[in-house]
Amino acid sequence: MELIDGKKVSDAIKITIAEEVQTILSQGGKRPHLAAILVGTDGGSITYVNHKVKACEQVGFASTLKTFDEDISEDALLDTIAEFNANKDIDGFIVQLPLPKHIDEQKVIEAISPNKDVDGFHPINVGKMMIGLPSFKSATPAGILELLKYYHIETAGKHCVIIGRSNIVGKPLSVMLSHKGYPGDCTVTVCHSRTKNIAEECKRADILIAALGSPEFVTADMVKQGAVVIDVGTTRVASSETKSGWKLKGDVKFDEVAPLCSYITPVPGGVGPMTICSLLMNTLQAARGKK
Ligand code: GUN
Repeated sequence: MELIDGKKVSDAIKITIAEEVQTILSQGGKRPHLAAILVGTDGGSITYVNHKVKACEQVGFASTLKTFDEDISEDALLDTIAEFNANKDIDGFIVQLPLPKHIDEQKVIEAISPNKDVDGFHPINVGKMMIGLPSFKSATPAGILELLKYYHIETAGKHCVIIGRSNIVGKPLSVMLSHKGYPGDCTVTVCHSRTKNIAEECKRADILIAALGSPEFVTADMVKQGAVVIDVGTTRVASSETKSGWKLKGDVKFDEVAPLCSYITPVPGGVGPMTICSLLMNTLQAARGKK
């Protein structure tokens, strides 16, 4: 069993991004600039956005963080999005999800200019990705593809089972892995809450990707000997072992599943660092005016 080290891979990619930034600057170009909008005080969202801002510093990007109280009106949020769309210095921006219930998330996503939508959530980018046109690709699926590439994991003709059908991970990943080429050419099954015999479906997977947000859902009896297991779960659970009082748990029961695997991602330190890396890569593309 080999552990897939997302931290190591993301550090290596960040070094190449930082070099690219230096090249752009040395040629008189503008420093890439990523902005983020954070609404409310959800602990997970604050942590993720802070990591994104810190990653910008690490690679030499400019960053802007705009925070709003939980009770900001939808109109006020849409006004800020319009400002960011018009701001020529901002190459790309994200609105951290989830948003409070009184704000229509889809309306917010669709208000972001597709050219600055470095999360790849706008229907225009999703549609382009779907038919294989250049586009901003959703960061977590793109990060998973980078991990498969880095470890030279074979994908052609493999049976990939994805648990979870979210717009952010499961759905786009199912399309990306079924595309022609590498990493791709997989036969993909998407499992969800209404799937019958989910353990049997999972057990057929050469590559099993758990993205349902249910801690330790995948157990040893669901995994084929030699499978590649990618754990996208990051649920905060109460813990007496940490100072914060919580720790991150993946969707895979790591200790019992790992011995069966050819490759497996840990939580934390697997997919998580790659998501931020993909966001940086999308921002660099936006700064270059390319997708
Ligand atoms: N919430 C959970 N994941 C993400 C992400 O990739 N982007 C944004 N904007 N919000 C998220």
